[in-house]
Amino acid sequence: MNDRFSEPKTETDLLKEARRVLQHNLLGAFTKPAPSLYPHQWNWDAGFIALGWAPTNFKQACSEMTALFRGQWSNGMVPQIVFSVKNSGKYFPGYRFWETQGLPGKPRNARTSGLTMPAVHGFVLQRLLEQAPDVREARPFFRRMYDRVLLLHDYLYTLRDPHGEGLAFICHPWESGMDNLPTWETVFETIHFDPEKDVPAYERMDLQHVDAPFRPRKESYDRYIYLVNILRKSHYKKPELWNDYPFKVQEPMFNAILSHSNEAMMELGKWLGKDTGQLREWHEQTNKAINDKLWDEQRGVYVSFDLVQQRQVPVVTAAGLMPLLSGAPDQVRAERLTALLQNPKFSGTAENPAWLCASTALDDPGFDPSRYWRGPVWINMNWMMYHALLRYNQPALAARLRDDSLELVRRHGFWEYYNPWKKQSGGCGTDQFSWTAALVIDWLRQ
Ligand code: DGY
Repeated sequence: MNDRFSEPKTETDLLKEARRVLQHNLLGAFTKPAPSLYPHQWNWDAGFIALGWAPTNFKQACSEMTALFRGQWSNGMVPQIVFSVKNSGKYFPGYRFWETQGLPGKPRNARTSGLTMPAVHGFVLQRLLEQAPDVREARPFFRRMYDRVLLLHDYLYTLRDPHGEGLAFICHPWESGMDNLPTWETVFETIHFDPEKDVPAYERMDLQHVDAPFRPRKESYDRYIYLVNILRKSHYKKPELWNDYPFKVQEPMFNAILSHSNEAMMELGKWLGKDTGQLREWHEQTNKAINDKLWDEQRGVYVSFDLVQQRQVPVVTAAGLMPLLSGAPDQVRAERLTALLQNPKFSGTAENPAWLCASTALDDPGFDPSRYWRGPVWINMNWMMYHALLRYNQPALAARLRDDSLELVRRHGFWEYYNPWKKQSGGCGTDQFSWTAALVIDWLRQ
């Protein structure tokens, strides 16, 4: 953990520093998430980063989205990583490891991984449109992107929702964006493999840039690579792949983000003169399915559903509150969620208070305050939760999420994530993190 900044900072200072972080990570058509740990373009990062560029460089904001969608596969999938040729060899798993080269349906001019990530693009586009300096000039961009995002949602509602439930499944922890939640450990309790035989040889590069206690453990990486190996062997798309595939999870935040993006796309569609009936249907169906299948009445929170074991995964994480973003919970459930956020599970106690919002509940057996997704506060999660709470008319609680986030950045700098305990607080992971900077910019423009 690191405390680079001890002087209190004004909002003007913060803005200036945030812009400097984005500028520093700019690679031309897109901005990498961090200087050395993540040297390519990542999917949901690109969406948040676009929001950071929008107020000062709208062209760059559009370019982030265009560059990402250059990696879109013909079936609609938008990859988790679009690799930069210039930075090849600097990240594991790199382009070659994924074995996507030459696969049918994969774009010829982009190097990509074979997974996807949360579909933030619809709501990012809506927020970009609000900031377009000249909407007439920007219209062709939005028209193009609308079709691309629609294709992505269609992919998620068909290939990732084979029974038409309205819930897309993820096939790898990396697809959730929250790679290292204890939730995945619970799912893996019933997945048996031999790390010696079933995991190909690999060499991590993340530990060259970040201390091991901040990053996933070796057992977690073995699982990640075990799954990638199954996927790449099947060329990612044989329909029979999913029959025996061991990791298929319907996750609440992934689906809430998709549902919220459907709503945002409806607005965009209306502006473009499109028929938005399908988007409405998806939005309503997903919100209903989130409530019917992912609500855990005992814990008063949404949880993941393991499609292989046909059971809920009872782990309390910040992702379980995110259906507020798409308007899924009714008033009773919304009150239980907001109460949870304010109880010791997320707020800590008077003796040991916590910044909002820990990624994993503070009392979860898998909680670790400084390890990747096992507990730290993430600025993108806080930013989405802030908007979710405003939707439910909770301005004071929303303001707490915003204020906690800005205070963490002011005290420690633009870190990837932060220790949630107020008595130990500090930045973790990599410094100069693009979406932390981008979302600070978005907050300060409001
Ligand atoms: C990483 O390398 O940890 C990335 O999050 C994978 O997407």
